[in-house]
Amino acid sequence: MRILRTIAEVLAAVRDARAAGHTVGLVPTMGAFHEGHLSLMREARRNHDLVVVSLFVNPTQFAPNEDLSTYPRDEARDAALAEGVGVDILFAPEPAEIYPDGFATTIHVAGITEVLDGASRGAHHFDGVATVVTKLFGIVRPDAAYFGQKDAQQVLVVRRVVRDLDLDARIVACPIVRESDGLAMSSRNVYLDAEARAQATALNRALDAAEVARAAGDGILPAARAVLAEAGIEPEYLELRDAETLDPVESVDRDALLLVAARVGSARLIDNHLLRGTPA
Ligand code: PAF
Repeated sequence: MRILRTIAEVLAAVRDARAAGHTVGLVPTMGAFHEGHLSLMREARRNHDLVVVSLFVNPTQFAPNEDLSTYPRDEARDAALAEGVGVDILFAPEPAEIYPDGFATTIHVAGITEVLDGASRGAHHFDGVATVVTKLFGIVRPDAAYFGQKDAQQVLVVRRVVRDLDLDARIVACPIVRESDGLAMSSRNVYLDAEARAQATALNRALDAAEVARAAGDGILPAARAVLAEAGIEPEYLELRDAETLDPVESVDRDALLLVAARVGSARLIDNHLLRGTPA
């Protein structure tokens, strides 16, 4: 595996791969790898000749009060894990390589970025994500890019960028990877102390309870809210939304996402379940 720091090096490596008729898969990440990231890399490895993983803690998607300075960073560990699953290139640039002096462009997706995480974290968040992902697509020109479904809203935002800007990349959303007790894997789980770690399992339990309630014909949101309340968690949001448009929905006639965000201990965690639509 090669660790590359500059855009010029990645462009050259991708150009060589393309000249040899190879396909290219991209896994954009901010590092602090866990099984969720590795599942994306394995999927890219299965499907492409050249697998590029970007490791860049993107400053523009963090608000001033968020965890940019404390976000877990361990490049040597990440590099070993990526190499272990057969990644070809780890692109780990410095911020100035991605945002040189005079950088002046922002990609803003209207509508779906204004709710849920966009409302909780602020508009800068998805602007930062959309901008850096668009840059990475310009640098790597992947045939496909792999994202985790845990960040369901992010997947929809990236799909919209690709569609609206006619970027020639397929977006692959891979299933959420969970700990044995159901907690969705997240780089931010390292912020949880033992008490908060136990409390955090309520997020997935709440989503499970909602599915059980739905099957029984009971209220989806009240069931989830009750589990969170019992665990002492006040969600930032707990919402049922159309799985494609993110419009609020009251019943699951079409595929819907039940999404939750909550501060647990010193971590802000998100999770979601897809509820399959049952048309009347
Ligand atoms: O999901 C992430 O890790 C980030 O939001 C991404 C897609 C790598 C953009 O910085």
